[in-house]
Amino acid sequence: IIALFLVSVKRMRKTIVAGNWKMNASKDSVDNLIKDLLTGMDGITSEVLVCAPFPYLAQVELLIQGSKVMLGAQNLNTNASGAYTGEVSADMIKDFGARHVIVGHSERRSLYGETSAMVAEKTKAALNAGLTPLLCIGESIEQRDSGNTEAVIEKQLSAVIELVGIEAFNQIIIAYEPVWAIGTGVTATPEQAQEAHLFIRSLLAKNDESVAQKTPILYGGSMNASNASELISCADIDGGLIGGAALKAEDFLQICKVG
Ligand code: 13P
Repeated sequence: IIALFLVSVKRMRKTIVAGNWKMNASKDSVDNLIKDLLTGMDGITSEVLVCAPFPYLAQVELLIQGSKVMLGAQNLNTNASGAYTGEVSADMIKDFGARHVIVGHSERRSLYGETSAMVAEKTKAALNAGLTPLLCIGESIEQRDSGNTEAVIEKQLSAVIELVGIEAFNQIIIAYEPVWAIGTGVTATPEQAQEAHLFIRSLLAKNDESVAQKTPILYGGSMNASNASELISCADIDGGLIGGAALKAEDFLQICKVG
C-alpha cells in the first residue's frame, strides 16, 4: 500500500528532461540538433527543455516555435539592467521565449565563485521575472567521502529557502547534481541518487509537506540513454538534467522517452 501511494504521488509530478548544452554550440550544430529533436518528439510525454548558451537563444526560439520543446538559459545576472558589462538579465532571457534558467550549477559555483547566497539571489531574480529556476545542488567527492553530503545539500538548499520562502518552490525545479558524477562517466547509483533525492524532499517537507510532494527533483551527472530509465524510475527522481548526452539528438530523445 505504501509503495502504491509513493507511485501515485510520483505520477502527480511530470517527468522533466532538460538538456544543459553548457558552452557547446554553433549555428550549424544547433540547427541540426533541434531539427533532429523535433522529428523525434512524437509520443514523448515528458516535459522537454534545452538550456542554450545566450547567443543561441534567438535561434532556438525560432526553431522550436509550435513544438513542445521549451527553452532555457544557463545563468543570469540579478540586476534588471544597467552598467554590468558582459552580463544578461532575466528579462533579456524572457525576451527570447525562454521560460527556464539554470542557477547554481556546480561549474559556476567552482569556476566563477558563486556562493549559495549569490545562487539564492539569482533564484529570486529569476522568480521575480517569471522564469522557472532550475536550482542545482550537490556535493563534491571530498564532501561525500568525509560524510558531509547531507550537510552540504542542506546548506545549499536552505540558503534559497531562507531568501525566497518555501512557497516559491512551487515555481522551482531542483536538480541534484553530485559534482563527482558531472562529465566523468561515473553516474551515481540509483540507490545513491534516490537517497539524496529523498533527503532533499524531506528538507522541503520540513517546511511544507505539499510543496515537497509537488517539487520536481531532477538528477544530473553522466545520465545517458542506458542509465536514465533505472534512475528516473526511482520514487523521488523526477527526470534528468543532461550535459554530454543532450548534445546528441538520438541519446537525448531516448532519455526523453523514459518519462
Ligand atoms: P554530464 O551529463 O555531461 O555529466 O553533465 C551533467 C550536468 O552538469 C548537467 O547540468
